[in-house]
Amino acid sequence: MTSITNLSPELRKTWHPIGRIGSFGSEPTRFELVGEPFVAVRLSGEVKVFRDVCPHRYARLSDGRVVNDNIQCPYHGWQFAADGRCAHVPALGDDATLPPARLTAPHVKYAYDLVWVAPEEPVVDILSIPEWDDPSLDKVWIPPVDVNAGAAQIVDNFLDFSHFPYVHAGTFGSDKDRLVHEYSTVRTDDGWGFVVEYPHVIENHEDPAVATGENPLVQPRHMRYDFRAPFTANLRLELPLTGMVNAIVLWCQPMTLATTRVHIVMIRNDCHTPEERQAAIDYERRIFDEDKRVIEFLADKSVPLDRGQVHVRSDRHTVEFRRILQRLIIGD
Ligand code: FES
Ligand SMILES: [Fe+2]
Repeated sequence: MTSITNLSPELRKTWHPIGRIGSFGSEPTRFELVGEPFVAVRLSGEVKVFRDVCPHRYARLSDGRVVNDNIQCPYHGWQFAADGRCAHVPALGDDATLPPARLTAPHVKYAYDLVWVAPEEPVVDILSIPEWDDPSLDKVWIPPVDVNAGAAQIVDNFLDFSHFPYVHAGTFGSDKDRLVHEYSTVRTDDGWGFVVEYPHVIENHEDPAVATGENPLVQPRHMRYDFRAPFTANLRLELPLTGMVNAIVLWCQPMTLATTRVHIVMIRNDCHTPEERQAAIDYERRIFDEDKRVIEFLADKSVPLDRGQVHVRSDRHTVEFRRILQRLIIGD
């Protein structure tokens, strides 16, 4: 049986977000990715990432600090420049010949206000988010959430829509939405993602016109999921009755076997004031916490990709999700 966990070595060859660019300063920050420790630090104005191991005696660089725009190891004070080269060894004095030591750096890029890291040459590019550059939409970030589950379990849940009337009965789930009707899943040309469109109904507790009786509580909603391997999905929601557009982008960072950091931005047209933005964050967190309570108690931290689980017609696109991850794990 093939399965995926946060420690599957093939995930070293894909991009993962590690946090918003502005969240990294001159204080070294330790983080884990696919079970490996890294340090992120701002040097010469840019966020740099290295394996969190000093080449001298293997101390943690993240316990050090920035000195003269270099990262200084906390053990013997060696300093390393933004390009990873050893720049100073205090025990040898100022004019010494320096050892050819160099920090190991993964692939790094900056996109969608996030720092992205791939420990090895990545085989899949990141998902494009068309809503990002739409001037009619505002970006509302949810503070990152750490979940005690595998990234594949979290994305599987995010894509799934037959759980809404049960897990989300306390928020938007409607008992008029139990039956999942026919829908199709379209793979992207390069095979690393798919698009699913699905119209359904929700209870719209965010619509003030519901309280006045102008709009019904149960309203039609159009969903469009854009998934891309390994762990990104953009869920574009449109509510024809209110004119709301909300693209919820979920990016998962597999840290350890049992821990995933989830980065979420909502790109929407109905959040203009700080109060509206905060209300949207609070509501989305309530929905996410409903999912979290289920996901954190799934039987284990892996997702089986071929055998071992029972699928039905309404799981069509989450089966497609498994096929795409299987391609990543075992190849074509
Ligand atoms: S272990 Fe880093 S300077 Fe010695
Ligand atoms: Fe959910």
